[in-house]
Amino acid sequence: MTTTSLPGAPHFHYQGDELFAERVRVGDLARRHGTPLFVYAKASMLAALAAYQRGFAGRDFRICYAMKANSSLALLQVFAQAGCGFDIVSGGELERVLAAGGKPQDIIFSGVGKTRAEMKRALEAGIGCFNVESEAELEVLNGVAVELGQVAPISIRVNPDVDPKTHPYISTGLKGNKFGIAHDRTLHAYRRAAALPGLRVEGIDCHIGSQITDEGPYLDAMERILDLVQAIEGAGIPLHHIDFGGGLGITYKGDAPPAADALWRKLFERIDARGFGQRRFMIEPGRSLVGNAAICVTEVLYLKPGEHKNFCVVDAAMNDLPRPAMYQAFHAIEPVAKRSGNSSPYDVVGPVCESGDWIGRDRELAAQPGDFLAVMSAGAYCMSMASNYNTRGRAAEVLVDGDRAFVIRERETPADLMRVEKLLPGA
Ligand code: LLP
Repeated sequence: MTTTSLPGAPHFHYQGDELFAERVRVGDLARRHGTPLFVYAKASMLAALAAYQRGFAGRDFRICYAMKANSSLALLQVFAQAGCGFDIVSGGELERVLAAGGKPQDIIFSGVGKTRAEMKRALEAGIGCFNVESEAELEVLNGVAVELGQVAPISIRVNPDVDPKTHPYISTGLKGNKFGIAHDRTLHAYRRAAALPGLRVEGIDCHIGSQITDEGPYLDAMERILDLVQAIEGAGIPLHHIDFGGGLGITYKGDAPPAADALWRKLFERIDARGFGQRRFMIEPGRSLVGNAAICVTEVLYLKPGEHKNFCVVDAAMNDLPRPAMYQAFHAIEPVAKRSGNSSPYDVVGPVCESGDWIGRDRELAAQPGDFLAVMSAGAYCMSMASNYNTRGRAAEVLVDGDRAFVIRERETPADLMRVEKLLPGA
């Protein structure tokens, strides 16, 4: 039987006409567990991680998975067991890492709006570093740490003002963004941090955006960060690590981002040339570790041929796959079992009552009602951004490891959705 691979998704392939995740038939999973169903290939997660590990071979490094990309417990467990740390942005994410077996000292805490309660809990848990995003936050964190009789390890997130050339909603390192401390305020902020008794300066941090497919912005940002490291250390404040954030893109449709190992080989050429090769480097990749490790399987409910457009109504919707509605994002849509016969162009849409509820536009499909379709590259920023809009329970998730498949999340029931709500008293 012929095996056909799919672009960007090395552990999903066709055997003959049928789609497989590693060695498991996707159609069987959909029939057993229902749809919409997220199916993960563990081998893809580990292969993506291995590319970074190759890039850092022989260096002092820590990979902190940016769990906002996908915070399902079993995925966190896989990364924790593979030796990753975690980049968190909320108290909720902290509890998830701890529940999945992550070590507190391997956690870094990013985000522009950390609350006092979140800071306190993170200090008590003993996290590795706070990535501080404003001068005001330095003062608040210092106050919380002093009150607890602790010293908070910090790095300052610097906004390097580099254009990552990505979607405006997901570029973060430009002057107009809310993230980080402006390049020209950085030295001032470090001086202040070094003077505060509740803070201990550990490093410097930046993150310029997401789904970056061009190495140029990374190389520029690295130069700017190294300039700052020189200036800060010149002012007598040593920096033990450089955290370069995340952002590396994946293949959704013809995108050709650099491979993680190739990118870091290039970056280290610059870093070594400037004499920083022995420094500890940290990164916060999210999408590039999980994005192409999952598909979302959905069933075709209805075909609605029309004068101007044909609609293919499926049982997954914008609450499961919010990226098309939010960013006009492209996700490839493939049949779970290829069928012969004529194809037609369809807009693939969900059951949610919004015109924005579309998953793909003008896709050539030969699908019939009852067929399963696979929405590709669904591992990052899909389940973690899923909602319960239209009182739709979030989808189930299955993780495939070789020829075994494990349910890692049950489908939410209406009772789950109503659990924390209360009716008014009386009547
Ligand atoms: N570190 C920080 C501080 C971040 O803000 C982010 C992502 C990351 C790391 C991980 O970036 P990644 O390696 O995943 O690109 N929902 C959008 C993406 C939002 C990214 C937010 N920050 C999407 O679906 O495209």
